[in-house]
Amino acid sequence: MQHFFVTLMYDRVLRYPDRVRNLYFTFLFVLRAVTKASNYLEQAEYDTCNPNENLTTQSLIKQLIYNLKLQAACPIPFDEANLWKGRSGLELKQKIQQQFRNISALMDCVGCEKCRLWGML
Ligand SMILES: *[C@@H]1O[C@H](CO)[C@@H](O)[C@H](O)[C@H]1NC(C)=O
Ligand SMILES: *[C@@H]1O[C@H](CO)[C@@H](O)[C@H](O)[C@H]1NC(C)=O
Repeated sequence: MQHFFVTLMYDRVLRYPDRVRNLYFTFLFVLRAVTKASNYLEQAEYDTCNPNENLTTQSLIKQLIYNLKLQAACPIPFDEANLWKGRSGLELKQKIQQQFRNISALMDCVGCEKCRLWGML
């Protein structure tokens, strides 16, 4: 099974440098968002319809937010203020927002919850 995922990862992503760069950018973007929202994420209530998974989710979120290795490796993963600077900044911001909306609208049509989550990411 693991071999299958490694092969899939290689065939669909790793063979293409631009996809690796996109994945890395997305990772930094999401990491920055998680870092910025850490106060909220820590206090949020996680409702999974299962009391044990509620607690597990909360615990995993805390492990992610307070992960010292991650904080040390990536103190400021992404400086969004720089991204929106300059003449093309506003245009880029609007384009990204539009793209997020389009992806969200597309994902609303996907039935499977997990696929939807990963698709959004
Ligand atoms: C956790 O799970 C239970 C299901 O037993 C649910 O009723 C509850 O509202 C959930 N959410 C939180 C935040 O505890
Ligand atoms: C989003 O969707 C609209 C309408 O479907 C389309 O015109 C637009 O080009 C799309 N924008 C992006 C950034 O993909």
